[in-house]
Amino acid sequence: MNPRKLRLAIVGLGNMGSAHMMNILSGKVPNVELTAVCDVRPDRLAFAEEKAPTVARFTDFDALLSSGLCEAILIATPHYFHPPMAIAAFEAGLHVLTEKPAGVRVSDVRRMNEAADRSGRVFGIMFNQRTGELFQKARAMVQNGTLGNPRRLTWIITNWYRTDAYYKSGDWRGSYSGEGGGVLLNQAPHNLDLLQWIFGMPISLTAACTAGKYHAVEVEDEAILTMEYENGATAQFITTTGEYPGTNRLEIVGDRGKIVLEGGVLRHFDNGFSVDEHIKTADTASCGVKPTVTEYTASAPERAHAGVLEDFAEAILTGTPLVADGREGIAMLTLANAAYLSSWEGRKVSLPLSDADAARFDALLAERAAASETNAAASASSPTGEISPRWQIKWD
Ligand SMILES: NC(=O)c1ccc[n+]([C@@H]2O[C@H](COP(=O)([O-])OP(=O)(O)OC[C@H]3O[C@@H](n4cnc5c(N)ncnc54)[C@H](O)[C@@H]3O)[C@@H](O)[C@H]2O)c1
Repeated sequence: MNPRKLRLAIVGLGNMGSAHMMNILSGKVPNVELTAVCDVRPDRLAFAEEKAPTVARFTDFDALLSSGLCEAILIATPHYFHPPMAIAAFEAGLHVLTEKPAGVRVSDVRRMNEAADRSGRVFGIMFNQRTGELFQKARAMVQNGTLGNPRRLTWIITNWYRTDAYYKSGDWRGSYSGEGGGVLLNQAPHNLDLLQWIFGMPISLTAACTAGKYHAVEVEDEAILTMEYENGATAQFITTTGEYPGTNRLEIVGDRGKIVLEGGVLRHFDNGFSVDEHIKTADTASCGVKPTVTEYTASAPERAHAGVLEDFAEAILTGTPLVADGREGIAMLTLANAAYLSSWEGRKVSLPLSDADAARFDALLAERAAASETNAAASASSPTGEISPRWQIKWD
Protein backbone atom coordinates (compact mmCIF):
# COMPACT_ATOMS: atom_id res chain seq x y z
CA MET A 1 0.00 0.00 0.00
CA ASN A 2 1.16 3.52 -0.83
CA PRO A 3 2.15 5.36 2.39
CA ARG A 4 0.37 8.49 1.14
CA LYS A 5 -3.34 8.79 1.99
CA LEU A 6 -6.05 10.01 -0.38
CA ARG A 7 -7.43 13.43 0.63
CA LEU A 8 -11.17 12.87 0.39
CA ALA A 9 -14.29 14.98 0.95
CA ILE A 10 -17.75 13.52 1.57
CA VAL A 11 -20.76 15.32 0.11
CA GLY A 12 -24.04 14.53 1.90
CA LEU A 13 -23.84 13.50 5.56
CA GLY A 14 -27.11 11.64 5.87
CA ASN A 15 -27.47 7.94 6.61
CA MET A 16 -24.87 6.76 4.15
CA GLY A 17 -22.47 9.73 4.12
CA SER A 18 -22.27 9.72 7.94
CA ALA A 19 -21.51 6.00 7.87
CA HIS A 20 -18.74 6.55 5.31
CA MET A 21 -17.37 9.30 7.55
CA MET A 22 -17.36 7.07 10.62
CA ASN A 23 -15.73 4.23 8.65
CA ILE A 24 -12.85 6.58 7.84
CA LEU A 25 -12.62 8.14 11.31
CA SER A 26 -12.59 4.71 12.96
CA GLY A 27 -9.65 3.56 10.85
CA LYS A 28 -11.55 1.09 8.61
CA VAL A 29 -10.22 2.79 5.47
CA PRO A 30 -6.51 3.22 6.27
CA ASN A 31 -5.50 4.80 2.94
CA VAL A 32 -8.03 7.68 3.18
CA GLU A 33 -7.79 10.95 5.09
CA LEU A 34 -11.07 12.83 5.46
CA THR A 35 -10.22 16.47 4.78
CA ALA A 36 -13.66 18.03 4.22
CA VAL A 37 -17.40 17.41 4.38
CA CYS A 38 -20.32 19.18 2.73
CA ASP A 39 -24.02 19.22 3.55
CA VAL A 40 -26.76 21.81 3.16
CA ARG A 41 -28.01 21.02 6.68
CA PRO A 42 -26.17 22.88 9.48
CA ASP A 43 -27.07 20.12 11.98
CA ARG A 44 -25.28 17.53 9.86
CA LEU A 45 -22.19 19.76 9.81
CA ALA A 46 -22.50 20.14 13.60
CA PHE A 47 -22.48 16.32 13.78
CA ALA A 48 -19.30 16.29 11.69
CA GLU A 49 -17.72 18.98 13.88
CA GLU A 50 -18.44 16.93 16.98
CA LYS A 51 -16.87 13.78 15.48
CA ALA A 52 -14.00 15.39 13.56
CA PRO A 53 -13.37 19.00 14.66
CA THR A 54 -10.37 19.50 12.35
CA VAL A 55 -12.17 18.45 9.15
CA ALA A 56 -13.27 21.43 7.01
CA ARG A 57 -17.02 21.95 6.64
CA PHE A 58 -18.95 23.39 3.68
CA THR A 59 -22.60 24.12 3.01
CA ASP A 60 -21.79 25.19 -0.54
CA PHE A 61 -20.70 22.41 -2.91
CA ASP A 62 -18.98 24.81 -5.36
CA ALA A 63 -16.93 26.29 -2.51
CA LEU A 64 -15.81 22.77 -1.60
CA LEU A 65 -14.76 22.08 -5.20
CA SER A 66 -12.62 25.22 -5.40
CA SER A 67 -11.20 24.88 -1.88
CA GLY A 68 -8.17 22.82 -2.88
CA LEU A 69 -8.74 20.73 0.25
CA CYS A 70 -9.50 17.44 -1.48
CA GLU A 71 -8.37 15.45 -4.50
CA ALA A 72 -11.47 13.23 -4.57
CA ILE A 73 -15.11 13.38 -3.46
CA LEU A 74 -17.55 10.72 -2.34
CA ILE A 75 -21.09 11.73 -3.33
CA ALA A 76 -23.76 10.54 -0.86
CA THR A 77 -26.60 12.96 -1.66
CA PRO A 78 -30.03 11.93 -3.03
CA HIS A 79 -29.85 10.26 -6.47
CA TYR A 80 -30.73 13.20 -8.74
CA PHE A 81 -27.63 15.07 -7.49
CA HIS A 82 -25.15 12.35 -8.41
CA PRO A 83 -24.57 13.22 -12.12
CA PRO A 84 -24.43 17.06 -11.79
CA MET A 85 -22.14 16.85 -8.76
CA ALA A 86 -19.89 14.26 -10.42
CA ILE A 87 -19.68 16.32 -13.63
CA ALA A 88 -18.76 19.49 -11.68
CA ALA A 89 -16.12 17.56 -9.72
CA PHE A 90 -14.58 16.07 -12.87
CA GLU A 91 -14.46 19.55 -14.40
CA ALA A 92 -12.67 20.74 -11.24
CA GLY A 93 -10.09 17.98 -11.77
CA LEU A 94 -11.22 15.75 -8.91
CA HIS A 95 -11.66 11.97 -8.73
CA VAL A 96 -15.20 10.79 -7.94
CA LEU A 97 -16.77 7.91 -6.06
CA THR A 98 -20.56 8.11 -6.33
CA GLU A 99 -23.17 6.32 -4.31
CA LYS A 100 -25.59 4.08 -6.18
CA PRO A 101 -27.64 4.54 -8.27
CA ALA A 102 -25.47 6.43 -10.78
CA GLY A 103 -28.41 8.82 -11.24
CA VAL A 104 -32.10 8.73 -12.05
CA ARG A 105 -32.02 9.13 -15.86
CA VAL A 106 -29.78 7.27 -18.30
CA SER A 107 -29.49 10.53 -20.28
CA ASP A 108 -27.81 12.28 -17.30
CA VAL A 109 -25.55 9.33 -16.64
CA ARG A 110 -24.39 9.26 -20.25
CA ARG A 111 -23.26 12.88 -19.79
CA MET A 112 -21.59 11.98 -16.48
CA ASN A 113 -19.67 9.11 -18.07
CA GLU A 114 -18.52 11.39 -20.91
CA ALA A 115 -17.30 13.93 -18.34
CA ALA A 116 -15.41 11.14 -16.54
CA ASP A 117 -13.76 10.09 -19.82
CA ARG A 118 -12.78 13.67 -20.64
CA SER A 119 -11.31 14.25 -17.17
CA GLY A 120 -9.09 11.16 -17.09
CA ARG A 121 -9.81 10.98 -13.34
CA VAL A 122 -10.69 7.82 -11.42
CA PHE A 123 -14.44 7.17 -11.29
CA GLY A 124 -15.94 4.58 -8.97
CA ILE A 125 -19.43 3.61 -7.83
CA MET A 126 -20.51 2.17 -4.48
CA PHE A 127 -21.71 -1.27 -5.53
CA ASN A 128 -20.64 -2.71 -2.20
CA GLN A 129 -22.42 -6.05 -2.71
CA ARG A 130 -19.92 -6.89 -5.47
CA THR A 131 -17.47 -7.55 -2.60
CA GLY A 132 -19.62 -10.55 -1.58
CA GLU A 133 -17.62 -13.74 -2.14
CA LEU A 134 -20.61 -15.82 -3.20
CA PHE A 135 -21.59 -13.33 -5.90
CA GLN A 136 -17.99 -13.31 -7.13
CA LYS A 137 -18.07 -17.12 -7.24
CA ALA A 138 -21.39 -17.13 -9.11
CA ARG A 139 -19.97 -14.69 -11.65
CA ALA A 140 -16.86 -16.81 -12.17
CA MET A 141 -18.96 -19.95 -12.64
CA VAL A 142 -21.09 -18.28 -15.31
CA GLN A 143 -18.15 -16.66 -17.06
CA ASN A 144 -15.68 -19.59 -16.99
CA GLY A 145 -18.26 -21.95 -18.46
CA THR A 146 -18.76 -24.15 -15.36
CA LEU A 147 -22.54 -23.90 -15.83
CA GLY A 148 -22.35 -24.29 -19.59
CA ASN A 149 -24.56 -22.37 -21.97
CA PRO A 150 -26.53 -19.78 -19.87
CA ARG A 151 -30.28 -20.48 -19.90
CA ARG A 152 -32.03 -18.70 -17.06
CA LEU A 153 -31.52 -16.42 -14.09
CA THR A 154 -34.30 -15.96 -11.55
CA TRP A 155 -33.88 -13.65 -8.58
CA ILE A 156 -36.53 -13.24 -5.91
CA ILE A 157 -35.19 -10.38 -3.83
CA THR A 158 -38.02 -9.31 -1.57
CA ASN A 159 -36.14 -8.79 1.70
CA TRP A 160 -35.88 -5.02 1.22
CA TYR A 161 -38.81 -4.46 3.61
CA ARG A 162 -39.43 -0.79 4.52
CA THR A 163 -42.20 0.96 6.49
CA ASP A 164 -44.05 4.23 5.84
CA ALA A 165 -41.89 5.71 8.65
CA TYR A 166 -38.82 4.97 6.53
CA TYR A 167 -40.29 6.76 3.50
CA LYS A 168 -41.22 9.73 5.72
CA SER A 169 -37.64 9.99 7.08
CA GLY A 170 -36.64 12.19 4.13
CA ASP A 171 -38.80 14.51 2.00
CA TRP A 172 -37.03 13.28 -1.11
CA ARG A 173 -37.94 9.65 -0.52
CA GLY A 174 -40.77 7.96 -2.35
CA SER A 175 -41.51 10.81 -4.77
CA TYR A 176 -40.80 11.24 -8.48
CA SER A 177 -39.45 14.76 -7.94
CA GLY A 178 -37.17 13.89 -5.02
CA GLU A 179 -36.15 10.31 -5.75
CA GLY A 180 -37.22 9.59 -9.31
CA GLY A 181 -38.25 6.00 -8.61
CA GLY A 182 -38.80 3.45 -5.89
CA VAL A 183 -37.44 0.04 -5.00
CA LEU A 184 -35.63 -0.34 -8.36
CA LEU A 185 -33.71 2.91 -7.77
CA ASN A 186 -33.08 2.84 -4.05
CA GLN A 187 -32.93 -0.70 -2.66
CA ALA A 188 -32.59 -3.09 -5.60
CA PRO A 189 -29.84 -1.27 -7.58
CA HIS A 190 -27.34 -3.61 -5.93
CA ASN A 191 -29.20 -6.66 -7.20
CA LEU A 192 -29.84 -5.24 -10.68
CA ASP A 193 -26.14 -4.44 -10.90
CA LEU A 194 -25.18 -7.95 -9.77
CA LEU A 195 -27.66 -9.45 -12.24
CA GLN A 196 -25.94 -7.75 -15.18
CA TRP A 197 -22.44 -8.20 -13.67
CA ILE A 198 -22.95 -11.94 -13.33
CA PHE A 199 -25.25 -12.74 -16.27
CA GLY A 200 -24.76 -9.83 -18.70
CA MET A 201 -27.19 -7.35 -20.23
CA PRO A 202 -30.43 -8.55 -21.84
CA ILE A 203 -31.63 -7.43 -25.26
CA SER A 204 -35.19 -6.71 -24.17
CA LEU A 205 -37.18 -6.14 -21.02
CA THR A 206 -40.84 -6.17 -19.98
CA ALA A 207 -41.93 -5.02 -16.52
CA ALA A 208 -44.84 -4.45 -14.20
CA CYS A 209 -43.93 -1.78 -11.66
CA THR A 210 -46.69 -1.03 -9.17
CA ALA A 211 -46.60 2.40 -7.56
CA GLY A 212 -47.73 2.83 -3.95
CA LYS A 213 -49.02 -0.73 -3.67
CA TYR A 214 -48.12 -1.16 0.01
CA HIS A 215 -46.94 2.29 1.11
CA ALA A 216 -48.14 5.89 0.95
CA VAL A 217 -45.62 6.75 -1.82
CA GLU A 218 -45.79 7.95 -5.43
CA VAL A 219 -43.18 5.49 -6.71
CA GLU A 220 -43.17 1.72 -7.21
CA ASP A 221 -42.77 -0.47 -4.15
CA GLU A 222 -43.10 -3.67 -6.18
CA ALA A 223 -41.51 -4.53 -9.53
CA ILE A 224 -41.52 -7.67 -11.64
CA LEU A 225 -39.11 -7.73 -14.60
CA THR A 226 -38.72 -10.32 -17.34
CA MET A 227 -35.74 -10.13 -19.68
CA GLU A 228 -34.54 -11.87 -22.82
CA TYR A 229 -30.94 -12.47 -23.90
CA GLU A 230 -29.31 -12.74 -27.29
CA ASN A 231 -28.64 -16.49 -26.87
CA GLY A 232 -32.26 -17.18 -25.89
CA ALA A 233 -31.63 -17.15 -22.13
CA THR A 234 -34.17 -15.38 -19.92
CA ALA A 235 -34.12 -13.60 -16.57
CA GLN A 236 -36.85 -12.89 -14.07
CA PHE A 237 -36.44 -10.37 -11.26
CA ILE A 238 -38.98 -9.87 -8.48
CA THR A 239 -38.52 -7.21 -5.82
CA THR A 240 -40.58 -5.24 -3.31
CA THR A 241 -40.26 -3.22 -0.09
CA GLY A 242 -43.67 -4.40 1.09
CA GLU A 243 -43.21 -8.08 1.99
CA TYR A 244 -42.18 -9.53 5.32
CA PRO A 245 -40.55 -11.96 5.81
CA GLY A 246 -38.65 -11.54 2.57
CA THR A 247 -36.74 -13.88 0.32
CA ASN A 248 -33.29 -13.61 -1.26
CA ARG A 249 -32.97 -16.50 -3.69
CA LEU A 250 -30.86 -16.33 -6.82
CA GLU A 251 -31.00 -19.26 -9.20
CA ILE A 252 -28.83 -19.44 -12.31
CA VAL A 253 -29.21 -22.28 -14.77
CA GLY A 254 -26.93 -23.34 -17.57
CA ASP A 255 -27.08 -26.43 -19.76
CA ARG A 256 -24.49 -28.20 -17.53
CA GLY A 257 -26.16 -27.51 -14.18
CA LYS A 258 -27.33 -24.74 -11.91
CA ILE A 259 -26.39 -22.71 -8.88
CA VAL A 260 -28.74 -21.58 -6.14
CA LEU A 261 -27.75 -18.85 -3.68
CA GLU A 262 -29.97 -18.74 -0.64
CA GLY A 263 -29.46 -18.44 3.11
CA GLY A 264 -25.79 -17.48 2.68
CA VAL A 265 -24.97 -20.74 0.84
CA LEU A 266 -24.16 -21.25 -2.84
CA ARG A 267 -25.21 -24.73 -3.98
CA HIS A 268 -23.73 -25.93 -7.24
CA PHE A 269 -25.66 -28.72 -8.97
CA ASP A 270 -23.31 -30.18 -11.56
CA ASN A 271 -24.96 -32.44 -14.16
CA GLY A 272 -21.67 -33.65 -15.54
CA PHE A 273 -23.21 -33.50 -19.03
CA SER A 274 -24.85 -31.01 -21.36
CA VAL A 275 -28.65 -30.93 -21.22
CA ASP A 276 -28.66 -29.35 -24.70
CA GLU A 277 -27.02 -32.54 -26.04
CA HIS A 278 -28.95 -34.95 -23.79
CA ILE A 279 -32.32 -33.62 -25.00
CA LYS A 280 -31.32 -34.43 -28.58
CA THR A 281 -29.45 -37.71 -28.10
CA ALA A 282 -31.02 -39.59 -25.13
CA ASP A 283 -33.27 -42.58 -25.93
CA THR A 284 -34.98 -42.35 -22.52
CA ALA A 285 -37.99 -40.11 -21.78
CA SER A 286 -36.31 -38.31 -18.90
CA CYS A 287 -33.03 -38.26 -17.02
CA GLY A 288 -32.25 -40.29 -13.90
CA VAL A 289 -28.73 -38.99 -13.35
CA LYS A 290 -28.35 -37.28 -9.98
CA PRO A 291 -26.27 -34.09 -10.18
CA THR A 292 -23.25 -33.71 -7.93
CA VAL A 293 -24.03 -31.06 -5.32
CA THR A 294 -21.29 -28.91 -3.80
CA GLU A 295 -21.93 -26.20 -1.21
CA TYR A 296 -19.94 -23.04 -0.73
CA THR A 297 -20.12 -20.40 2.02
CA ALA A 298 -18.18 -17.17 2.32
CA SER A 299 -14.80 -17.63 4.01
CA ALA A 300 -14.63 -14.03 5.26
CA PRO A 301 -17.07 -11.17 5.86
CA GLU A 302 -17.76 -9.00 2.79
CA ARG A 303 -15.44 -5.97 2.54
CA ALA A 304 -18.54 -3.91 1.86
CA HIS A 305 -18.53 -0.10 1.79
CA ALA A 306 -15.13 0.35 3.45
CA GLY A 307 -13.61 -2.09 0.95
CA VAL A 308 -15.03 -0.25 -2.08
CA LEU A 309 -13.70 3.06 -0.72
CA GLU A 310 -10.31 1.56 0.12
CA ASP A 311 -9.98 0.16 -3.42
CA PHE A 312 -11.08 3.51 -4.91
CA ALA A 313 -8.30 5.26 -2.96
CA GLU A 314 -5.78 2.59 -3.96
CA ALA A 315 -6.78 2.98 -7.62
CA ILE A 316 -5.89 6.67 -7.39
CA LEU A 317 -2.73 6.18 -5.32
CA THR A 318 -1.24 3.14 -7.10
CA GLY A 319 -3.43 2.33 -10.12
CA THR A 320 -4.97 -0.93 -8.81
CA PRO A 321 -8.42 -2.02 -10.13
CA LEU A 322 -11.73 -0.70 -8.76
CA VAL A 323 -14.46 -2.94 -7.35
CA ALA A 324 -16.83 -1.12 -9.73
CA ASP A 325 -15.93 1.44 -12.38
CA GLY A 326 -18.38 4.36 -12.16
CA ARG A 327 -19.20 4.04 -15.84
CA GLU A 328 -20.72 0.61 -15.14
CA GLY A 329 -23.48 2.29 -13.10
CA ILE A 330 -25.32 2.96 -16.34
CA ALA A 331 -26.09 -0.75 -16.80
CA MET A 332 -28.41 -1.18 -13.80
CA LEU A 333 -29.93 2.25 -14.46
CA THR A 334 -30.69 1.17 -18.02
CA LEU A 335 -32.61 -1.81 -16.61
CA ALA A 336 -34.50 0.46 -14.18
CA ASN A 337 -35.34 3.13 -16.80
CA ALA A 338 -36.43 0.42 -19.23
CA ALA A 339 -38.58 -1.21 -16.53
CA TYR A 340 -40.42 2.06 -15.83
CA LEU A 341 -40.86 2.78 -19.53
CA SER A 342 -42.16 -0.73 -20.15
CA SER A 343 -44.58 -0.48 -17.25
CA TRP A 344 -45.80 3.04 -18.07
CA GLU A 345 -46.31 2.32 -21.76
CA GLY A 346 -47.31 -1.35 -21.49
CA ARG A 347 -44.73 -2.60 -23.97
CA LYS A 348 -41.51 -4.52 -24.36
CA VAL A 349 -38.43 -2.26 -24.41
CA SER A 350 -35.39 -3.12 -26.55
CA LEU A 351 -31.92 -2.76 -25.08
CA PRO A 352 -29.53 -1.00 -25.20
CA LEU A 353 -31.95 1.87 -24.59
CA SER A 354 -32.31 3.89 -27.80
CA ASP A 355 -31.93 7.68 -27.67
CA ALA A 356 -35.66 7.92 -28.48
CA ASP A 357 -36.60 5.66 -25.55
CA ALA A 358 -34.24 7.50 -23.19
CA ALA A 359 -35.91 10.78 -24.21
CA ARG A 360 -39.38 9.21 -23.88
CA PHE A 361 -38.50 8.01 -20.36
CA ASP A 362 -37.27 11.51 -19.43
CA ALA A 363 -40.53 13.07 -20.68
CA LEU A 364 -42.75 10.59 -18.80
CA LEU A 365 -40.71 10.97 -15.62
CA ALA A 366 -40.89 14.77 -15.92
CA GLU A 367 -44.70 14.57 -16.11
CA ARG A 368 -44.75 12.53 -12.93
CA ALA A 369 -42.21 14.75 -11.17
CA ALA A 370 -44.25 17.86 -12.07
CA ALA A 371 -47.25 16.27 -10.33
CA SER A 372 -45.19 15.27 -7.27
CA GLU A 373 -46.35 16.45 -3.90
CA THR A 374 -42.84 17.35 -2.80
CA ASN A 375 -39.91 18.99 -4.47
CA ALA A 376 -37.60 18.90 -1.50
CA ALA A 377 -34.26 17.16 -1.41
CA ALA A 378 -34.16 17.51 2.34
CA SER A 379 -33.84 14.76 4.86
CA ALA A 380 -35.19 14.97 8.37
CA SER A 381 -33.29 12.07 9.88
CA SER A 382 -30.34 12.45 12.24
CA PRO A 383 -28.21 9.38 11.62
CA THR A 384 -25.41 8.48 14.00
CA GLY A 385 -23.05 7.15 11.34
CA GLU A 386 -23.58 3.47 12.09
CA ILE A 387 -23.52 1.06 9.14
CA SER A 388 -27.01 -0.38 9.00
CA PRO A 389 -27.23 -4.17 8.53
CA ARG A 390 -29.93 -3.44 5.92
CA TRP A 391 -27.21 -2.05 3.58
CA GLN A 392 -25.19 -5.26 3.59
CA ILE A 393 -25.87 -8.54 1.86
CA LYS A 394 -28.90 -9.95 3.66
CA TRP A 395 -29.97 -13.56 3.23
CA ASP A 396 -32.95 -13.61 5.59
N1 LIG B 1 -24.48 1.75 -0.88
C1 LIG B 1 -25.44 1.60 0.02
O1 LIG B 1 -25.53 0.55 0.66
C2 LIG B 1 -26.37 2.76 0.32
C3 LIG B 1 -27.15 2.74 1.48
C4 LIG B 1 -27.96 3.86 1.76
C5 LIG B 1 -28.01 4.92 0.86
N2 LIG B 1 -27.27 4.87 -0.30
C6 LIG B 1 -27.35 5.98 -1.26
O2 LIG B 1 -26.83 7.16 -0.66
C7 LIG B 1 -27.54 8.29 -1.14
C8 LIG B 1 -28.04 9.08 0.07
O3 LIG B 1 -28.94 8.27 0.80
P1 LIG B 1 -29.16 8.52 2.37
O4 LIG B 1 -30.02 7.43 2.85
O5 LIG B 1 -27.87 8.76 3.05
O6 LIG B 1 -30.01 9.87 2.30
P2 LIG B 1 -30.17 10.99 3.45
O7 LIG B 1 -31.37 11.77 3.10
O8 LIG B 1 -30.08 10.35 4.80
O9 LIG B 1 -28.86 11.88 3.26
C9 LIG B 1 -28.65 12.74 2.16
C10 LIG B 1 -27.88 13.94 2.66
O10 LIG B 1 -27.55 14.77 1.53
C11 LIG B 1 -27.70 16.13 1.94
N3 LIG B 1 -27.86 16.97 0.77
C12 LIG B 1 -28.97 17.14 -0.02
N4 LIG B 1 -28.72 18.02 -1.00
C13 LIG B 1 -27.42 18.42 -0.85
C14 LIG B 1 -26.59 19.33 -1.55
N5 LIG B 1 -27.02 19.99 -2.62
N6 LIG B 1 -25.32 19.51 -1.11
C15 LIG B 1 -24.86 18.84 -0.02
N7 LIG B 1 -25.62 17.97 0.69
C16 LIG B 1 -26.88 17.77 0.29
C17 LIG B 1 -28.93 16.11 2.85
O11 LIG B 1 -29.00 17.25 3.67
C18 LIG B 1 -28.69 14.82 3.64
O12 LIG B 1 -27.96 15.03 4.84
C19 LIG B 1 -28.69 7.78 -2.02
O13 LIG B 1 -28.37 7.94 -3.37
C20 LIG B 1 -28.78 6.31 -1.64
O14 LIG B 1 -29.21 5.49 -2.72
C21 LIG B 1 -26.45 3.83 -0.56
